[in-house]
Amino acid sequence: MEKIINIKKKIKPFNKSIFVEGDKSLSIRWVLISSLSKKKSIAYNLLKSQDVMSSINCIRSLGSKVKFYKNKCEIIGNGFHVEKKGKILINAGNSGTLGRIILGLLINSKKKIKLTGDRSLSKRDFSRVIKPLKKFGAKFDTKKNLPLTMWGLENPKPIKYLETKGSAQCKTSIMFAALKSTGTTEIKAKKSRNHTELLFKYLNIPIKIKESKKFDIIKLKGINKINSLNYQIPGDISSCAFFLVLTILSDNSQLLIKNVNINSSRIGVIRILKRMGAIIKFRNQKNYKGEKIADIFVKSSKKLISINCPKEWNSSAIDEFLIIFLVAAKAKGISYFKNLDELNQKESPRLIWASKILNLMGVENTMTKNSLKIRGNPNLLLDKKIMIKNFLKDHRVFMMSTIAALTFGGNWKIKDADSIKTSFPKFLKIIKDLNR
Ligand code: S3P
Repeated sequence: MEKIINIKKKIKPFNKSIFVEGDKSLSIRWVLISSLSKKKSIAYNLLKSQDVMSSINCIRSLGSKVKFYKNKCEIIGNGFHVEKKGKILINAGNSGTLGRIILGLLINSKKKIKLTGDRSLSKRDFSRVIKPLKKFGAKFDTKKNLPLTMWGLENPKPIKYLETKGSAQCKTSIMFAALKSTGTTEIKAKKSRNHTELLFKYLNIPIKIKESKKFDIIKLKGINKINSLNYQIPGDISSCAFFLVLTILSDNSQLLIKNVNINSSRIGVIRILKRMGAIIKFRNQKNYKGEKIADIFVKSSKKLISINCPKEWNSSAIDEFLIIFLVAAKAKGISYFKNLDELNQKESPRLIWASKILNLMGVENTMTKNSLKIRGNPNLLLDKKIMIKNFLKDHRVFMMSTIAALTFGGNWKIKDADSIKTSFPKFLKIIKDLNR
């Protein structure tokens, strides 16, 4: 039975400190990298969400051993080659990250691979990884969507590739395939989150990166084994973002969100919210294995102003736009977000969903196929019934709607509460604790 939540009251003022759960991108990467080493890898604070469990199920089916303890997870991987008998069947569930990266990782498999996913993942674009993986020598039975079958090859040949979407999933899939090829692969990739590069550097994998403003050039040599990876996974800035906005839009509240990853390729949301007048501060900054971590302090904002959001910031805030749009709904003036085609490529077509929800809230907005203009109303207060349903169980649409209900008022019914299990299973529990 699908779970519906009903919110009729705004959240009470709060002044607390919280932890959000482990970073999803780093959790999935840790699982996949650990599967390549035959030594034991250990992770603390691994995110236990459906996307990460799909990744664990996937590497278990390929021969890795995975054990969970109270506060850690251990993996003894199956190494660089999959020696499994019979067909390889992978169900990536809702996870675009797993679905896309695993194809690169399995490029040297002798067995054919069948990849499936849920209804949402089956609508998403896989041509972005099929194209480069074909250059390595793999074959596919489809051009774009799941389910798909891939035929790998024993010795993939290195490639030169231009990645223009700013997709870290695509870049990472190519990087995993490059590890298994015989020679040096060169990727010119539009800027996107760089966790894989940092992890590969930490593992002493032969990688060279030349950064420029819009693109990075990554040169990566094929290898045949890697070290194990012990990792303490920091909090997820994408989960943290919902609480930043909850605090900014609430009255007389403040919050300290502890131990969050603040990698500069991920903190577009903070740049954008600060430019809109939010008060956000990093405390206790640390470096950890190439990543940056901090506690994030935020408080209610009385004066928010609109933004003409620079398109160069899009990639570093790509999962946070839905929640940023709520701040634009309350900011004085017209906010403009452009070049956002990629938002409609996510778990649901998010630009379309954002506009629909703003319409239901009575917030004036104009959407094109890749942009959104929002006329903010600093006095916006809702007093009507709003029902949110049929959003392909997109976890971030659910969480955006919940934060809107808790900050703008009205009587909201929001379906598919279980969608939070994809990325942030403790989301509703943290809200309940704040609202005590
Ligand atoms: C992710 C990359 C982003 C992001 C997704 C996680 C990753 O997708 O939206 O939630 O872990 O690499 P794209 O690479 O398609 O932009």
